[in-house]
Amino acid sequence: MFHPNILCMGRGSLENTEKLIGQIEPERILMVTGPNVRKLGIADRVLTAAGSYRNRVELFINPKPEPDISIVEQCARHIREGGYDLVIGLGGGSPLDVAKGAAVVATHDGEMRPLLGMNRLQRKGIPTILIPTTAGSGTDVTRAVVVSVPEDKSKRSIWDHRTMAEAVIVDPELMVHMPPGLTAETGFDALVHAIEGHTARGANPFSRMYTAEAVRLIGAYIARACRNGRDMEAREAMARGATYAGIGMTNSGLGAIHALALGVDSCEGFNHCRSLSVLAPWVMRFNRIGNESLYADIAEALGEKIEGISVEEASLKASQCVVRICREIGISIYLKDCGISKDKVRSLAVGAYTVGQRLLPMNCRDVSQEDALALFEQAFGG
Ligand SMILES: [Fe+2]
Repeated sequence: MFHPNILCMGRGSLENTEKLIGQIEPERILMVTGPNVRKLGIADRVLTAAGSYRNRVELFINPKPEPDISIVEQCARHIREGGYDLVIGLGGGSPLDVAKGAAVVATHDGEMRPLLGMNRLQRKGIPTILIPTTAGSGTDVTRAVVVSVPEDKSKRSIWDHRTMAEAVIVDPELMVHMPPGLTAETGFDALVHAIEGHTARGANPFSRMYTAEAVRLIGAYIARACRNGRDMEAREAMARGATYAGIGMTNSGLGAIHALALGVDSCEGFNHCRSLSVLAPWVMRFNRIGNESLYADIAEALGEKIEGISVEEASLKASQCVVRICREIGISIYLKDCGISKDKVRSLAVGAYTVGQRLLPMNCRDVSQEDALALFEQAFGG
């Protein structure tokens, strides 16, 4: 099992920042964050929590979401030239991916492309402390760094245990700023990590312990967190759910929802959540065949009563629950709502199937190109 060395979780866990930095004893610290996190005063809260190390911290602002290779390489150059020996990643998935990616690119040759793929790293990176401000990507606890590749408008990743953080601080008090839309989108991403992690071919009893609890927490609290961002019980549950989903998926792998979404994420009218939500119900129904008991587990974790009904019937309820959750949090499950016309569905499906080959082998059921096309046709909506 892969897991960060130290994981501090819960309200007020940011107070551990100075102590955690002290264990690494850095001379120069680079904090990688986003413009919004800085504007909202969250970066200042972390600087305060850094205590006696505050004066050793400098900021690197990741300018936009969905980071590409060039921003990671630019940050890595900054780390090398500045002699930084600790990187703090603070924010949503994007600045955390930049922080993780730059920390390993900085100890290699400064180029990211040769490191993309499975286990290509030669050595550890600069130590990192990761502090998420959203409950979604789970990148703070995974061994993956995801980036956009401008050449083919796809996403690729470094997948290596050496990208894992030295320490992670998951403090839900840093997440209250999230508006309902962002809470819904990041939370839904985490729910899909948990569902796909639970059913992936690489799942094991240990990873399923995390993914089952993540499904339960997110299913029970996502709508509450969207309705009232100051509901701290819901924020805390979502923070835990996203972290458990991340730990689960990094040890199990994902599946066809994320695989096919890879080629859709960067298309106009989409983002990561939108591409997941239009695929999730249909892929779950497809994957259910041959994996009924796992989907029955998911339905139960999402609050369905499954006693006294057949496993097959129970398994069907999993995708129905996801459709209900999408409605409750205001996310569409249809491609037609994302500006896609019917005549574009085939090319979108073929492109997604080609790009998705990297993750499709992790899915619990084989997916052919015809299957992918049928899934996209269902996703278009009637
Ligand atoms: Fe995701």
